[in-house]
Amino acid sequence: MHHRFTIVEASKHIGEKVKVSGWVNTRRAHGKILFIDLRDRSGILQVVFVPSNKEVYDTAQTIRPEWVVEIEGQIVKRPDSMVNDKIATGQVEMSAESLKVLSESETPPFEIEGDGYDINEEIRMKYRYLDLRRERLKNNLIMRHKVIKFMRDFLDKEGFVEIETPVLTKSTPEGARDYIVPSRLNSGKFYALPQSPQQYKQLLMASGVEKYYQIPKCFRDEDPRGDRQPEFTQLDLEVSFAKMEDVMDLIERLLVSLVKTLYPKKKIQEIPFPKITYKEAMAKYKTDRPDLRKDKSDKSLLAFCWVVDFPFFKAGSDDGYPTGKWKPTHNPFSKPQDDFMDDLMQKKNIENILTTQYDIVLNGFEIGGGSIRNHRPEALEKVFEIIGYKADEIKEKFGHMLEAFRYGAPPHGGIAPGIDRIVSILQNEPNIREVIAFPKTGDGRDFMMSAPSEIDEKQLNELHIKVSLPKQKKKKQ
Ligand code: AMO
Repeated sequence: MHHRFTIVEASKHIGEKVKVSGWVNTRRAHGKILFIDLRDRSGILQVVFVPSNKEVYDTAQTIRPEWVVEIEGQIVKRPDSMVNDKIATGQVEMSAESLKVLSESETPPFEIEGDGYDINEEIRMKYRYLDLRRERLKNNLIMRHKVIKFMRDFLDKEGFVEIETPVLTKSTPEGARDYIVPSRLNSGKFYALPQSPQQYKQLLMASGVEKYYQIPKCFRDEDPRGDRQPEFTQLDLEVSFAKMEDVMDLIERLLVSLVKTLYPKKKIQEIPFPKITYKEAMAKYKTDRPDLRKDKSDKSLLAFCWVVDFPFFKAGSDDGYPTGKWKPTHNPFSKPQDDFMDDLMQKKNIENILTTQYDIVLNGFEIGGGSIRNHRPEALEKVFEIIGYKADEIKEKFGHMLEAFRYGAPPHGGIAPGIDRIVSILQNEPNIREVIAFPKTGDGRDFMMSAPSEIDEKQLNELHIKVSLPKQKKKKQ
């Protein structure tokens, strides 16, 4: 027999002999009869070993949890009293006829059964490949895949083209520090990993792509939190000739049909999503990402809302921006609202200028943000001046954008929903680490790979880099 059935497939072949393979979930004995719960990605199958089949029975006695085995046997209906309605294969069991050990396992550092929330997270991270065997995390990965596939299919039907953009690039400020990569071929020079593909997607609009999307990794050197990782995933998109309403309507339709298709048991509190202004949100909820759920104990309730009319600038400096008086509250590439274009051009009334930014909020989390862009180079230049960039810095950092916009750039706008946040909320998870295959810890480390790590002298020499760590402060005696 060559065909390998998945456990759920196999369980449908009552009366037939089939072959399955997977991991030993549990092993227990009832008198002389031995039971193994065999697990594969599709589910769990109870397998029965009886002493009369001596050779197979003896092997079955040696196997332990998490060993990988291949079993052939007959699928039989369980006696009525033994039916387990909690699992998909609970009506049947397999009567084992042969057993092959494919791989042994040491005793795992933690239980694979159960949701795992109470296990020390550093240990879960160190042995993440074992943690991912857990039903809950396996489902999170599968649902994440489905969400991303849904987004791709939806946007494909809407005429969007998926285009990859570079990861080795130049700084695009999004309000965080950049991750830097030294260039061996250009000594003393560095790439920055993108905080988002913002500039590339706008340049693609200048190229006439009209409708772009991508599922990119973004990199931001900031302190991780429950809803923040140093590298994370966006659904990044941009549309030419679009108005605020066009982008908002597209995302609203995408999210509503995604929830209806993949999460039919969830309830969206209000459609169309309510829109509130930044001012209202701050006055009424003291936050620009209000949780509008009428019943916060209801795990299936989804309260989306849009927040609009953000101020363009606020006083103070931020990582990644000059230390001047003003910094953008959101995207520096955004267009101010039409009523404020004159103020921007004259650099007056700065604190009152409103931007075309729209943020989308779900149950109190900012799950996306975007805007209509400033496609007139002379207006964009004013934004950089207000932020405090000097003329030569503007040319060095953003010259390519300003130049591109001088060759017939269409008006355009876009948005970037954060996929990790959306999936974690839909999966009722307390943080985004639970929906990322290999997340980093609070201080940006990967315990499994031991990253970041030192590199050897030869690599440093090739890059002409000298590491000089600050001297350790002397301990007070
Ligand atoms: P913004 O910086 O608002 O906009 O990011 C968009 C969305 O990405 C998610 N997000 C994160 N998720 C996990 N970890 C992080 N560190 C993190 N940072 C952001 C959030 C957020 O709403 N280029 C613009 C988009 C645009 O204007 O089109 C941008 O990146 O869900």
